[in-house]
Amino acid sequence: MPPEKRSNALCSIAQNASKKQKDDHMVNTTERARFGIPKIDSTISGGLPANSSTLLYGTPGAGKSIFCQKFMHEGVKKGDKCIFMTFDVRPDTIIDSMKRFGWDPEDKITFFDCFSYRIGAQSPSKYAATGLSDLNQLGMIFEDIISALDGAQKRLVIDSLSTLLLYSDPELVPKFLKDFIATAIAEKTTILMTVEEGVHDSHLVAMLNYLSDGFIEMKFDMDKRLLRISKMRDTVVNREWMEYDITKKGIIVK
Ligand SMILES: Nc1ncnc2c1ncn2[C@@H]1O[C@H](COP(=O)(O)OP(=O)(O)O)[C@@H](O)[C@H]1O
Ligand SMILES: [Mg+2]
Repeated sequence: MPPEKRSNALCSIAQNASKKQKDDHMVNTTERARFGIPKIDSTISGGLPANSSTLLYGTPGAGKSIFCQKFMHEGVKKGDKCIFMTFDVRPDTIIDSMKRFGWDPEDKITFFDCFSYRIGAQSPSKYAATGLSDLNQLGMIFEDIISALDGAQKRLVIDSLSTLLLYSDPELVPKFLKDFIATAIAEKTTILMTVEEGVHDSHLVAMLNYLSDGFIEMKFDMDKRLLRISKMRDTVVNREWMEYDITKKGIIVK
């Protein structure tokens, strides 16, 4: 190739590379909190947008809690500060489940225990609610946790919001949540919260959707487990159902 043609070709390659870099930058300007489930992460440009809130919505048994445990495991691996707000089981039960999947959190999760009081058990966590009707108490305990984890990038799981709605005033919970989510996000927190399908009226589900930046649906269809990303802030989503399985290694998306 003559020298001037070679020079033009190199110029063109450099221009294309520069354009690609710009395009990549445009597609993925937001830092992401990965799930560590390759198919999910690639579908949402690398993970949940950092400092956002996502609702995981599906029937009981769909795998929402296991999904949350995986999200925590990935956070622990990355070095994020992980907070697990548990409403339905004791912290030890979650740790045992994570260990069975090979995701030992090694004391790196801060549990906000909103369950032990219900069975009259002593909480293994110093952050424990004594009831769910006093939303102010929940807010204050959360602020204590945030202060203790000062400044770090955080992940928060709330599993399950349905229990909070059941045991507290359902009229007040959405307003409480709006402020709670805003506070958490302002403190560098990526939030994943679960809601049970078939338990709440459609108006309440629409309200919870409105409060969230992302919406992931999970369901059983015949013998298949399916999930889709219906909405995600800063992300192009195709809303296609993806088949997944729960095995002893965790969640496998096909
Ligand atoms: N170790 C495992 N291997 C295979 N499947 C499992 C395992 N542990 C749980 N499951 C499946 O996961 C489902 C429960 O998932 P879970 O996350 O608790 O659901 P949800 O929170 O949506 O109610 C169960 O129905 C069970 O079939
Ligand atoms: Mg669950």
